[in-house]
Amino acid sequence: MNTSLQKAASAKAGIQTKIPRILAVANQKGGVGKTTTSVNLATALSAIGKRVLLVDLDPQGNASTGLGIRRAGLRTSSYDVIFFEVPVTEVAQETKVPGLYVLPSSIHLSGAEIELVNESRREHRLESALRTALPYDYVIIDCPPSLSLLTLNALVAADAVVVPLQCEFYALEGLSHLSKTIERVKQTYNPRLDLHGVALTMYDGRNKLSAMVAEDVRAYFGDKVYKTIIPRNVRLSEAPSHGLPAIIYDMRCSGAQAYIKLAKEILRREKTMAGEIVGNKQQNNVIKAA
Ligand SMILES: Nc1ncnc2c1ncn2[C@@H]1O[C@H](COP(=O)(O)OP(=O)(O)OP(=O)(O)O)[C@@H](O)[C@H]1O
Ligand SMILES: [Mg+2]
Repeated sequence: MNTSLQKAASAKAGIQTKIPRILAVANQKGGVGKTTTSVNLATALSAIGKRVLLVDLDPQGNASTGLGIRRAGLRTSSYDVIFFEVPVTEVAQETKVPGLYVLPSSIHLSGAEIELVNESRREHRLESALRTALPYDYVIIDCPPSLSLLTLNALVAADAVVVPLQCEFYALEGLSHLSKTIERVKQTYNPRLDLHGVALTMYDGRNKLSAMVAEDVRAYFGDKVYKTIIPRNVRLSEAPSHGLPAIIYDMRCSGAQAYIKLAKEILRREKTMAGEIVGNKQQNNVIKAA
């Protein structure tokens, strides 16, 4: 379906299309809670009434399976959106959560790195697919654990980056590299890009180390660290095996409650950030006019 047909179909269904707000969930470190954060943040935003698309950009496909998508039966995936320009709404799958859609990943993405090297506008493929009128308020991108071309595509498409950080000894290791990458993408490809915030994950209140790490991270990132801390909670790790976000699997568990709180904090920060963007634009206009 081409873009005008997509628009017509959405209009017929009474759904407005617009360029969505795009958040990339990224950290090149493995196992820090990117997928858990993506899935539960996307679910919480849908529960608040937003229409949300979760883009699974990781060949491991944990976000897709965690939302109950059986990857074996899929005909198309985020790979087809990136390589063959198949429209997002054609590939997006409904989930059990009302208002939440997922662009599933496929194992083909594991070869994307090498295949993308020879493609034109290789850093902009996802941006072209997502920065267009779509029937979603938010797009959340679950990135793979690397600073690869796939992650680069996510950063070029995004408005802002959410960085999950596990409360463990080596938490800050590699973060200067991530910060530099965000800065480089901002300067070279995407001047919109901003660090949205840093989410402390897998916090263990019984462990002094968690508190020390949280303190260090706050000293390094200041106000960028969200006030909400995600605790270590076994329900968060059980939920994906049932194909459900923890917020649906067990809404009362401490992990689900923390993610609901985090989503609200993120939305509050969104308002401040939107104010800053308008302010900057006005300032630029004043500078231009002077
Ligand atoms: N707060 C938490 N409490 C307990 N377990 C958690 C928590 N957050 C994540 N986990 C578990 O830790 C593991 C890693 O989490 P997750 O898959 O979200 O990380 P990731 O950064 O996406 O990993 P990868 O880099 O491999 O993509 C998973 O088994 C997940 O269920
Ligand atoms: Mg993951």
